Amino acid sequence: FGLMTYDPAFTNTASCRSAITFIDGDAGILEYRGYPIEQLAEQSTYIEVAYLLIHGELPTKDQLDQWCQEITIHTFVHENVKSFMQGFRHDAHPMGMLCGSVGALSTFYPDANDIQDPENRHIQTIRLIAKMPTLAAFAFRHAMGQPYVYPDNDLPYPGNFLNMMYKMTELKYEPDPRVARALDVLFILHADHEQNCSTNAVRAVGSSQVDPYSAVAAGVAALYGPLHGGANEAVLRMLARIQTKDNVPQFIEGVKAGNEKLMGFGHRVYKNYDPRARIIKAAADDVFEVTGVNPLLEIALELEKIALEDEYFVSRKLYPNVDFYSGLIYEALGLPVSMFPVMFAIPRTSGWIAQWLEMVQDKEQKIARPRQIYTGERTREYVPMGSR
Ligand code: CMC
Repeated sequence: FGLMTYDPAFTNTASCRSAITFIDGDAGILEYRGYPIEQLAEQSTYIEVAYLLIHGELPTKDQLDQWCQEITIHTFVHENVKSFMQGFRHDAHPMGMLCGSVGALSTFYPDANDIQDPENRHIQTIRLIAKMPTLAAFAFRHAMGQPYVYPDNDLPYPGNFLNMMYKMTELKYEPDPRVARALDVLFILHADHEQNCSTNAVRAVGSSQVDPYSAVAAGVAALYGPLHGGANEAVLRMLARIQTKDNVPQFIEGVKAGNEKLMGFGHRVYKNYDPRARIIKAAADDVFEVTGVNPLLEIALELEKIALEDEYFVSRKLYPNVDFYSGLIYEALGLPVSMFPVMFAIPRTSGWIAQWLEMVQDKEQKIARPRQIYTGERTREYVPMGSR
């Protein structure tokens, strides 16, 4: 096989050059376009961060106003998308619904095939960021058996999403500002994370020059898995199964014996505390001030305390990741666990598109086409059925 290297999970292979997100996993550093995640979470908004990821610079006031205006007027989806979503089973997983419906958008916007035209790429970018919360909220209302709520374009991005999710009367849903801000911070933290599994999927599928809706559908599919975006859902199921703080030591022993993984722990790149987990832990406190403390928090804190001192986790450099505390917030917001990965997919859309835009304009980028180490039989004689 000559000089070919075997790297089955790309643990040591750079698949692209990128100027979007920087991670130093040993130091626990995350930056978007050079801005530390802590500063963005403290001072920015998700919609501004989406602009930053896509354009590479923070917007001026006029640029931000125009960006918000463009996104706001594209929040509606075609009525047939709504009908299409109504066709899913009553108990359909919202992430499956999101994956199918975002992929279906390519059939509503056939112009999206022209990925060489910058104007065209811009409009599809706006549409994707604008429509993802609408699709997500429709999937939620479907799971709840409730009528869909149309976007309200008088509301800002997170407020509009919360209104589509929770509106019950003629009046707009008015979230507590602390909850709305915590959601915006969660969106900022989830917006991009360099070449994670779903972003790699978007780039690999997009490298065939397919339209961005199909590429993003691949990203949603990858994010659905329990080792990636589905981990926040798996964490909550795990905490509920542990039941009480007293059961934690026994559960940890089971993890060390290899019975199962401690979900929400460990990361391919971070060999230190995930900086996003630290910020989410603080955001959870803000939300619990409004909603009351989630009783599962006690179990999560005990798991973290024991794991951070235990030789098994210390020697493997396993720390809490972004998914460890986010589910506790989502549950406090009244979301079913099946919605948790959807809450990850909404903001990750801006990262996926930023990476897709970078890829399609990269002159070095060819179709993603890895090689393999062949381990099967060679050149055999075909055996007719009667002789087998
Ligand atoms: N619980 C117990 N042991 C673990 C865990 C865990 N959560 N994660 C890794 N290990 C062990 C693993 O068994 C291995 O042990 P050994 O060397 O004895 O075989 C060692 O640590 C190295 O793990 P790995 O599987 O080689 O690490 P990886 O880089 O391939 O996997 C991971 C990274 C995130 C998939 C993994 O840590 C994991 O499955 N964590 C739980 C799921 C999770 O929380 N995923 C969210 C990731 S962050 C956000 C996102 O991407 O969505």
